[in-house]
Amino acid sequence: MTFGKPWLAVVVLAVGVAQATPTTNFDQFFPDWNEMLQGILRDNCSAEYAVYKTGEREPGAPLSSLITPVINCILETMPEFRKAELSASAVILGLLPTMLQTLGSTPAETALLSLRRPVLAFLLALGSPSVATMKTSEFMTTIQDLVEKGDTRPTTISTFRWRYVTSKWRVAMSVAEYLVTMVAVANVVYLAYQLGFHAIVMFAPETIFMLPLWTFICVVIHMGGVLILYLKLRIDRKAPKHDDQPRQRGHEMYNPEPYRGIGEQQQQQQQSHSTASEPLVLGILRRRTTGLSQEVTPAAFQEPKRLRWRKQTLFANFLIWLLSFGTLVNLVFGSMIFSSLLFFSVREVLLIVTRYVASTLICRAIVRLELSGMKQSTYYDPTEEDEGEQHMLGGGTVSEMIPLKNSQHHHVGETSGSSLGVMQ
Ligand SMILES: *[C@@H]1O[C@H](CO)[C@@H](O)[C@H](O)[C@H]1NC(C)=O
Repeated sequence: MTFGKPWLAVVVLAVGVAQATPTTNFDQFFPDWNEMLQGILRDNCSAEYAVYKTGEREPGAPLSSLITPVINCILETMPEFRKAELSASAVILGLLPTMLQTLGSTPAETALLSLRRPVLAFLLALGSPSVATMKTSEFMTTIQDLVEKGDTRPTTISTFRWRYVTSKWRVAMSVAEYLVTMVAVANVVYLAYQLGFHAIVMFAPETIFMLPLWTFICVVIHMGGVLILYLKLRIDRKAPKHDDQPRQRGHEMYNPEPYRGIGEQQQQQQQSHSTASEPLVLGILRRRTTGLSQEVTPAAFQEPKRLRWRKQTLFANFLIWLLSFGTLVNLVFGSMIFSSLLFFSVREVLLIVTRYVASTLICRAIVRLELSGMKQSTYYDPTEEDEGEQHMLGGGTVSEMIPLKNSQHHHVGETSGSSLGVMQ
């Protein structure tokens, strides 16, 4: 499912390239300057424009040989203070990929989410273009923190709060997640279309696919993270030894020790409440583990799963290196494209930046929400995957597995020094 999507995007992209007839670049600009630029094309650059419209290059001439004279003529005709505005726009737009990458999710986070909800993870990757650059070690550090210690950031939502979400609200939450993500994705896709067709990329003026290409590369890099995680991590459908007593498991999930002291009475109330509604909740959202129901269920309420490391391979490490190199290339490519986009007013540039940032923030919020929910339904099994023998021995004993929702306290208790460092 996850790996099918890029091909769809490739097809869309290929159609876009095929339609990139080199005579539509000036048909429409962004609204602020459209009138002025069309006037210049009509009154001052009609000769160049007419040649460009024929679309007939001399044999052997470069692809941009028709469009460059038109751009030259427009720039010569434009008043100086408009040109100054152009260079201001270029500065702001050139910084956009850097801004986005500080706000967006890393491939490691997207990959973790895709363990549970691949389609949502794909949409979130598409909705927040620009991938955070990272050192090779950071990919594994991020995953290790999330897999072994749960989510230890201060913004994490506690188990206590997740308990209040009833089954009706879980459905609403899932629907809301998809709706909001779709809005973010639609915004980004429409921006890629607008900037592709209504703007001109200075270093390759005859093309219209640079922006869509960049957006697409961002998604591909996130997909690379998914592949690496698959090579590094093993996820088992079920935590063992719990099939016979699902009720107890439910209790364990929803009544964590640490909160006993805080509000015992409230706790007691909740306990009786959750006992009554639990079979329904479990029936609707927990038991079924087919791909689809898992996809649409927020990670906090999914069936418990167990994570183990696979054996180290050189190939996976090479891929991590490739990925971190890819994030850097993507950043340079993105900055290059955005800083050479032509013919916007500063006002429109601010609007473009705002729209990108809004989409990225929305997607980021949902990724964080899902990741902090994920530790409610994830167990970490410290035994590394070995030739099957180990699996049989270690698999049966529940005590070895660490429920991530408690692991924070678990770790503080055992090795306070090191895990406190992570919590900061
Ligand atoms: C562009 O054309 C308009 C209308 O013909 C004319 O008034 C203006 O001077 C021209 N501008 C330049 C820079 O040639």
